[in-house]
Amino acid sequence: MELPHGITGKLAEPIEKILFTEQEIQERVKALGEQLTRDYQGKDLLVVCVLKGSLYFTADLIRHINMPLSLDFISVSSYGDATHTSGIARITKDLDEDIEDRHVVITEDILDTGLTLDYLVKLLQLRNPREIKICTLLDKPSKRITGIRADYSGFEIPNLFVVGYGLDYKHKYRHLPFICTFRDEFIPKD
Ligand code: IMP
Repeated sequence: MELPHGITGKLAEPIEKILFTEQEIQERVKALGEQLTRDYQGKDLLVVCVLKGSLYFTADLIRHINMPLSLDFISVSSYGDATHTSGIARITKDLDEDIEDRHVVITEDILDTGLTLDYLVKLLQLRNPREIKICTLLDKPSKRITGIRADYSGFEIPNLFVVGYGLDYKHKYRHLPFICTFRDEFIPKD
């Protein structure tokens, strides 16, 4: 398979299929940014990027939000293996900003079981924000085991393991400009 950006060799080896091209992602992210612009006019918006997976998504998204906003970062680590969260999480990098009385939008790469965001939302609610909304690039509703749902979602996907545009496999492949699936021998098993 010929890949865009001249991607070859070890980087190309595990890739099975491109699910969303760079252009499809950019178009969808632009539409989400425009929607947020409409919804948050005149409000004190704080975008909270969940590291590391939503780095690219957040950077692209906020450039389509046409109003003043603040950006902050949070990092949560969950116990369990690299690809399955156990639900027990802890903050490894906390916010710098005070969120009291502010409109918070959490940007996440993928909403899977929902355990990570469930933990994060409950934790941030204790700090008395005006409101917390969730904006996820990908949504895998079939895997959900919590009541968490996305307020804004880029693409809904079936129960597939996906990589690229921020999403990693064993801390690698985040920098692929598209979102792809991996060949069977590379896919983590449930
Ligand atoms: P949740 O707590 O189960 O919703 O898990 C969310 C986190 O699991 C995401 O932020 C990702 O880091 C990881 N994750 C879930 N599904 C995938 C996937 O298909 N590819 C890569 N990482 C994933």
